[in-house]
Amino acid sequence: MKGKNIIIGGAWPYANSSLHLGHIAGLISGDVLARYFRLTGNNVIYTSGSDTHGTPITERAKKEKTTPEEIAMKYHEEFDGMFKRLNFSYDLYSHTNTEFHCKKTQEIFKKLYDNGYIYEKIEPQAYCPNCNRFLADREIKLTCPSCGEETKGDQCDNCLHVPTQEELMEGNCIDCGTKVVSKDNKNLYLKLSAFQKIVEDHTKEVKHEWRINAQNETEKYLKQGLLDRAVTRDLNWGVEIPIPGYDDKRMYVWIDAVLGYLTNTMKICEEKGLNWEDFWKQSDNNKIYMVHGKDNIVFHSIILNALLAGLEDNYRLVDTIVSSEYLNYNDQKFSKSKGIGITALEALDIYDCDSLRYYLIANGPEKKDTNFSPDDFINVHNGEILNKFGNLVNRTLKFKGLEEVPNGNMDKEIEEKVKATYVKVGELIEKLEFREAVRTIIELIEDTNKYYDTEEPWKAKNEDINKFNDVIYTCSVVIANLSNLFEPIMPGATEKIRKYLQIDKPTWEYIEAKKGLKLENIEPLFERMAK
Ligand code: MF3
Ligand code: ZN
Repeated sequence: MKGKNIIIGGAWPYANSSLHLGHIAGLISGDVLARYFRLTGNNVIYTSGSDTHGTPITERAKKEKTTPEEIAMKYHEEFDGMFKRLNFSYDLYSHTNTEFHCKKTQEIFKKLYDNGYIYEKIEPQAYCPNCNRFLADREIKLTCPSCGEETKGDQCDNCLHVPTQEELMEGNCIDCGTKVVSKDNKNLYLKLSAFQKIVEDHTKEVKHEWRINAQNETEKYLKQGLLDRAVTRDLNWGVEIPIPGYDDKRMYVWIDAVLGYLTNTMKICEEKGLNWEDFWKQSDNNKIYMVHGKDNIVFHSIILNALLAGLEDNYRLVDTIVSSEYLNYNDQKFSKSKGIGITALEALDIYDCDSLRYYLIANGPEKKDTNFSPDDFINVHNGEILNKFGNLVNRTLKFKGLEEVPNGNMDKEIEEKVKATYVKVGELIEKLEFREAVRTIIELIEDTNKYYDTEEPWKAKNEDINKFNDVIYTCSVVIANLSNLFEPIMPGATEKIRKYLQIDKPTWEYIEAKKGLKLENIEPLFERMAK
């Protein structure tokens, strides 16, 4: 096999409520990378799944008076359908409650235990004397010791701080408000402290490729010194613990979730007859990307890497953390309870899928929070996508009276621009600068439209047929190449162009248009949206 072996892992969304556009804005970077790396000849495994375990799911089930499994499967089905409608090109979108995943996860857990990185410890833990039970981190509310905001114990929504065991003891029960007391509990702990140096050295080596938020978050934890972390929970929903004495506990959801990348890779390779080790073991020929929102960073940059290192079996650690900031809706945080924002499925019902993808990428929260507003969306759809891209396609392929791609000559200057666009867009995507990549393609379209206006083919048609043929041919070639360049961004529109111009499959190289090809049944790529 030629090309690199590339893993792209998209964060596993909790299967406990519908995903909104903000989630998609973070995850779509993964699909851009996957499509781009496939086009450039690499062996890509792009995978994710629904996170079905942990308290987020059991809380929801309790609220809806049903079982966690019921909730998890309902949302898993919803997510699966939604990602398909969004044209995400996952090689496998699964969930964490499959037999395969649970079995493999237990094997890995056991291996870490055997290697001495998971150990038993009796330690005081937060207990609610009123509810008579140990509380999960997110069942404790406390004042965040880092920023002073009121927050849940798993992670501060405001500053992303993950409270320590000691800090959790200062909190109150989220159900009844009682101050928690500390009570001895037996748990298994992951010896994160043992991985301080490995993770530190690795981070130093690869962090130049990461988004700045990932560098800062990770370094903050490394500077404090990594602390061992309980990896069993008092729950009856989740992966069972493969060590005697833990029947009434389950695996900490983050351990099980981040291992999903590995178990899914094994599954995909099993089905495709590939060797999963070619993707996950150290070699000069592979690379691992993880794509998620900023609240997920340390779970990937520290915990996942510690687990991989702890297997002591030549695993490759994560190379590149692609962590986004947040997307807001009308300048406010998405909030289901306050009714702010729309779900991805609602958006797909009213907006064109390609336009939605385009907007979320071109306006992606790469380095700072960005905003979605319906008004702005319509402006981008009509003003940029339809008036620039759609118009170039229409005025060329649907030129009145034109029956076939003319036998013209390619304008040399435009040809150079197209070729340079491949290089520049490729570099930008590899630098995770997707917004700029989209800008660069739009500039090519703007330049081509300008060329069209200057050459006035509608006049040349009657006055100088050779010139007419040259202009329409040149624009047809640009359109053919746009079906490659836009493939990672707008895969629906590019597929239509390939059909019109009889292009077999997308590639990442300059292509010509077929002279003499009949132009039939060409429909506009986009429709104007009413304000
Ligand atoms: N379920 C978590 C969330 O929604 C994300 C898990 S990502 C994984 O925040 F990689 F750990 F799976
Ligand atoms: Zn309580």
